[in-house]
Amino acid sequence: MPLRLTVIGTGYLGATHAACMAELGFEVLGVDVDKEKIDSLSRGELPFHEPHLQELLQKHIATGRLRFSTSIDEAGEFGDVHFIAVGTPQRAGEHAADMTYVDSSVAAIARAATKDCLIVGKSTVPVGSARRLQQLVQEESSLGVNVGLAWNPEFLREGFAVEDTLRPDRLVIGSESSAAEKILREVYADALRRETPFIATDFETAELVKVAANAFLAMKISFINAFSEVTETVGGDIRTLADAIGHDKRIGRRFLNAGVGFGGGCLPKDIRALQARVSELGLDSTMRFLNEADEINLRRRDRVVRLVQEHFGELEGKSIAVLGTAFKPNSDDVRDSPALDIAARLFSSGADVNVYDPKANANAAKRFPRLNYCDTLIDAVSGSDVVLLLTEWEEFRDLTPFALSGHVRHRMIVDGRNVLNPNDWTEAGWIFRALGRRTKRPTASFCREADRHVLGQEEVTPDDCGHPTGAVVATVGV
Ligand code: UGA
Repeated sequence: MPLRLTVIGTGYLGATHAACMAELGFEVLGVDVDKEKIDSLSRGELPFHEPHLQELLQKHIATGRLRFSTSIDEAGEFGDVHFIAVGTPQRAGEHAADMTYVDSSVAAIARAATKDCLIVGKSTVPVGSARRLQQLVQEESSLGVNVGLAWNPEFLREGFAVEDTLRPDRLVIGSESSAAEKILREVYADALRRETPFIATDFETAELVKVAANAFLAMKISFINAFSEVTETVGGDIRTLADAIGHDKRIGRRFLNAGVGFGGGCLPKDIRALQARVSELGLDSTMRFLNEADEINLRRRDRVVRLVQEHFGELEGKSIAVLGTAFKPNSDDVRDSPALDIAARLFSSGADVNVYDPKANANAAKRFPRLNYCDTLIDAVSGSDVVLLLTEWEEFRDLTPFALSGHVRHRMIVDGRNVLNPNDWTEAGWIFRALGRRTKRPTASFCREADRHVLGQEEVTPDDCGHPTGAVVATVGV
């Protein structure tokens, strides 16, 4: 008989895992304590934006392979394998991860299990957790019911969650029994047929693989962003630098996109939790470089705020258009979003901030209700003194100066993700600023009177990237 699976916790990770396991042919029960979420999923409505997931959800509610419930007892009777996909957020006022939800869901399902089964942790946890939880499972499970534990970290990216779950680039299993490994080989048979690397290891290595991967990615982004600080000081182009080092196969070009940096529910909290955990282990200085990575990352946000403040001086009465509030494109997630943080800080400095994001406006408004949320890009930029591109949605990557010129009050754009072609903008008379890139001044013939005044001031001060005036004049297109 095919294995029956449950997924406990139906957020970004759990809902995706549940729908994808149904797609692979398993009968799946998704469980969550949030009744509203369960009702919405049961109706086939995804409570967040994730490409292709809604279709999969509806498809398998219709096939009958996918159901949702708030009852852990139902899960305990139903499942042969119980995936734990609850969150491990940063603890309030601390760097460490909050394990409350993992601990309580593992204990609850161990208690509720009425037949032999395997609990499989997918949540990102501090190293040492699985071994501790194994003890908890033994204490909580009923006499005569054999409940095993394995750790199987998840590497999916928001925006590509379905693809990453159905076609993972590797599978990592931490366990202490060959039975657990055998069951998970059955669950992931489809990926194994495609020769996906399957790494069976101990609990600690499996837990560490996950945080090491996220720490490496965070470090890579902060590495290139640190060089942005250098090119902003001496001149140079961060994109060309990234392209050039990226050709070296040992380095690789991916995750070397300089800009406003990383955010979201994973990278920032995972590097902090890792530092907290190694400190607990007495290895205080071992992961100190991650503190630097965090600080470099946060300084990029300061840089954008300062750039706007330095350009305009007083922000009272200035109208700022912010394009993007999600922490990255193809997601409506605004957790620790650099874009939203910058928007909120400019608002606090007195500016009128008009925000547009194709999907994340509603979530952003829950966090910062006082920003002015617009339904279209044109609404956001109309009458603006500066446009800030902070999340690289396709709609923004394709922007042309001609689409915006007639709508703004002052032609200035800050490309916080290094996705626009500076020449297109400067040639159309825009002041163009980007992080870590030297840019030309607008071509004079396009400049309006008001812009000339601002440009005139700029020529006797260092430019917005901090180059000495003399160096900039050499690249001026005027
Ligand atoms: C990240 C990891 O990439 C996943 O492998 C992991 O499973 C997930 O965390 C998790 O732990 O659950 P995710 O948070 O969805 O996935 O987002 P990423 O694609 O990693 O992007 C993170 C942030 O880095 C975004 O804010 C993005 O804009 C930024 N970024 C990314 C850059 O600033 N530059 C880059 O070159 C790449």
